[in-house]
Amino acid sequence: MWRFGLILLLVTASKQFSLSEFEVPDYMKAGGDVPLKCGYELKSNESDKGLFVKWWWSPMNGSSEERSLIYQRIVGHPPDALRHNIEIVQDDDILLRNVTVKDSGVYECEVSNIVDEVRQYEPLIVFSEGTGVQLEFSTVEDGPDTDDDEDVFVTCEALGVAPYPDLTFTVDGEAVNATDLVIASEDSYDIYSNVTLSSDLASGHEISCLLTFSTLNVSDVAFLVTQVYNEAGFTTESPTEMASTEAPENVENNSKGDICCSWLLVVLPLISSYFMYFI
Ligand SMILES: *[C@@H]1O[C@H](CO)[C@@H](O)[C@H](O)[C@H]1NC(C)=O
Ligand SMILES: *[C@@H]1O[C@H](CO)[C@@H](O)[C@H](O)[C@H]1NC(C)=O
Ligand SMILES: *[C@@H]1O[C@H](CO)[C@@H](O)[C@H](O)[C@H]1NC(C)=O
Ligand SMILES: *[C@@H]1O[C@H](CO)[C@@H](O)[C@H](O)[C@H]1NC(C)=O
Ligand SMILES: *[C@@H]1O[C@H](CO)[C@@H](O)[C@H](O)[C@H]1NC(C)=O
Ligand SMILES: *[C@@H]1O[C@H](CO)[C@@H](O)[C@H](O)[C@H]1NC(C)=O
Ligand SMILES: *[C@@H]1O[C@H](CO)[C@@H](O)[C@H](O)[C@H]1NC(C)=O
Repeated sequence: MWRFGLILLLVTASKQFSLSEFEVPDYMKAGGDVPLKCGYELKSNESDKGLFVKWWWSPMNGSSEERSLIYQRIVGHPPDALRHNIEIVQDDDILLRNVTVKDSGVYECEVSNIVDEVRQYEPLIVFSEGTGVQLEFSTVEDGPDTDDDEDVFVTCEALGVAPYPDLTFTVDGEAVNATDLVIASEDSYDIYSNVTLSSDLASGHEISCLLTFSTLNVSDVAFLVTQVYNEAGFTTESPTEMASTEAPENVENNSKGDICCSWLLVVLPLISSYFMYFI
């Protein structure tokens, strides 16, 4: 057991540096600016000579071949931003300006020299409500409900949205079943939904259509439009945007990919048992 601990200890001791800071927001609204932060620290007796710091981007479910370099700095030289919308903030912290849904993906920071490397990555989702949510009503012939009145046909659509969307109809806050159609284009989706309501269920009631994204937390990012339907005409209430445009605090610090710290977690208990062996 302690011999295994000793081998791990040697591997760990050969690491010259570790990441001291790494931050990628979980999501950002299209048009916003996204801060990406990466910092490293050296072992006290090591120098940063020959050290590279790189930021990589890869598509959300991309393979390693699809990874592209977006920033690099060789210690002692000025940094290079390899994309037009990158602003260098300080050290190796960068700002992605005016992001589009195409900037969604996995962002990775790598610090390396000829013998060592540490890297960490997190996904970023850039979302867009596209044209926004549009809710419309029309009257149609009586359908298979119990009354003999004309029915109300409700459509809701949002065009050019991303990531993958979902629409929910509610009548006075109660969800109703609707049929959805999602059409994917290169970077975004068009979503259409419709429902036929009997006239007594629609008239005078508050009808809402809510746009959400399956990969984003609904309580943080959603778009809602609500109207009260009445046969004479409609009272329109202005659409409510429930989206937060601020980047959330990134709560996961060193949870992924940091070789330094995951090794330490394994090694520390082993080191203590190693010393206990001699006591
Ligand atoms: C720094 O110290 C570690 C052990 O503490 C050693 O393995 C490493 O070679 C030293 N590096 C330099 C540049 O002296
Ligand atoms: C990535 O893969 C996951 C699971 O395989 C899937 O649910 C998700 O829709 C994919 N995302 C994209 C952007 O392709
Ligand atoms: C942001 O990007 C969009 C399209 O990508 C463009 O229409 C808009 O002018 C840009 N805004 C700024 C402030 O650069
Ligand atoms: C929606 O439809 C499904 C099956 O088509 C049914 O099981 C469910 O009860 C319906 N929900 C409502 C609110 O009508
Ligand atoms: C209602 O939605 C269904 C499913 O998306 C679609 O096939 C149908 O054409 C829509 N009806 C109208 C009138 O748009
Ligand atoms: C969604 O966001 C709310 C409030 O911001 C938070 O309490 C909740 O834990 C989040 N849920 C997930 C699955 O992240
Ligand atoms: C993240 O790291 C910073 C300093 O590195 C620390 O102040 C903060 O409490 C950490 N946050 C979490 C959620 O661990």
